[in-house]
Amino acid sequence: MQATKAHALIQAAERFGTPVYVYDQATILDRCRSLLAAIPYPRKKLLYAVKANSNQAVVKTILGAGFGLDCVSIGEVLLGRTLGAGTILYTHNNVADAEFSAAVKMARAAKPRVWINCDSLQRLADLPRRSACFVRINGPVGGGHHDHVITGGPDSKFGIPWEQMPEALSLAAARQHRIIGVHQHIGSGIRDVAKFERAIEVLLSVVRRYRFPDLEYVNFGGGIGVPYRPTEQPMDLRAFGAMLTGRFSEFCREAGRDLTLMLEPGRFPVAEAGYLVVRANTIKETPYGKTYVGVDSGFNHLVRPTMYGSYHHITNASNPRGKTRPYYVAGYICESGDIFTRGDGDENRAAPRELPEVRRGDLLVLHNAGAYGYVMASEYNMRPRPPEVLLSGGKLVLARRAKTVGELVREALGSGR
Ligand SMILES: Cc1ncc(COP(=O)(O)O)c(C=O)c1O
Repeated sequence: MQATKAHALIQAAERFGTPVYVYDQATILDRCRSLLAAIPYPRKKLLYAVKANSNQAVVKTILGAGFGLDCVSIGEVLLGRTLGAGTILYTHNNVADAEFSAAVKMARAAKPRVWINCDSLQRLADLPRRSACFVRINGPVGGGHHDHVITGGPDSKFGIPWEQMPEALSLAAARQHRIIGVHQHIGSGIRDVAKFERAIEVLLSVVRRYRFPDLEYVNFGGGIGVPYRPTEQPMDLRAFGAMLTGRFSEFCREAGRDLTLMLEPGRFPVAEAGYLVVRANTIKETPYGKTYVGVDSGFNHLVRPTMYGSYHHITNASNPRGKTRPYYVAGYICESGDIFTRGDGDENRAAPRELPEVRRGDLLVLHNAGAYGYVMASEYNMRPRPPEVLLSGGKLVLARRAKTVGELVREALGSGR
């Protein structure tokens, strides 16, 4: 990590306390621009999947880079509207009727442009007659860094199975809907261009076969992974962009159609921009040959290691040149699974990690915490979520404050704020 970045993270911990999430705006903008630049296809609309990180400062930054939004809940749609998003795709799954109706109502307004991405035949039938909509198609290809994040293929709960396209089309015709967009999202954390290529071929084959006469947009979803381990390589973005542009341009040329290409990455723009800074408070040597470093955070703030066995790189910002030793970095949650050092071995179990000597009070930094970090945090054990801070132009700006313990207690007592 650059010395200036490490210095900013230490400053954030001193100013806002620990634990604290810090997002580097320059990294977010770099990822947005490099993805846009990697895809030479001229008619494109990139959406940001808000679920990866819904902090207002992060979303505003990405909107500023020219992205629209992919939203999975009415809360995300309302946030996007408040932040001035021009285009919102509402990609729901198993939502309550009241939420679906609220989204349909918003889709009728001129601004922002909200499209409903129908996840089932039932929701296609629920739309008011003569709606313009997207359909989410589930083909045979799925992928991802863990079984829980594979969203395509026969075992997936998402989308309308591709075999049911004739029903979808006749339903749409009966309701006089215009299917203006087709959508597919196969999973998350994929760095294999060939996997995307297979999925792209599937979606294009569906469009080739069923035509979708009102089609304007083809959305290939999100899923672009990032390296988490220092030994991992990023996906070859240029190769991805060239493949996508090549396949899509050829398809449009052959079909004689002028379609807009869409993607909706969540992890890619934000993962590497985020850091969770925590403080070591306990160094425990056990008679069984293990050394635990206890820190003032846990899976209530970053659940990925416990939930998926995910690796998050850890550095010691207070003692970067210390002599390395193996440590288990453990959180303060009352569960034995609350160990951050995972993903080092084959089985994603808790494992010791070589870190520069950790002393009581040292600041440890969990890297790549910008995606699916804070958004998956909870108040488990009655501990507030951390504050979130944006590092912008060398300045640290509070982007969301933390609740106080007093607020949590009042909420638990049913007395609100
Ligand atoms: C429909 C949809 N689109 C986009 C994304 C973003 O995926 P990623 O963060 O892997 O880019 C997700 C994440 O699961 C999703 O469900």
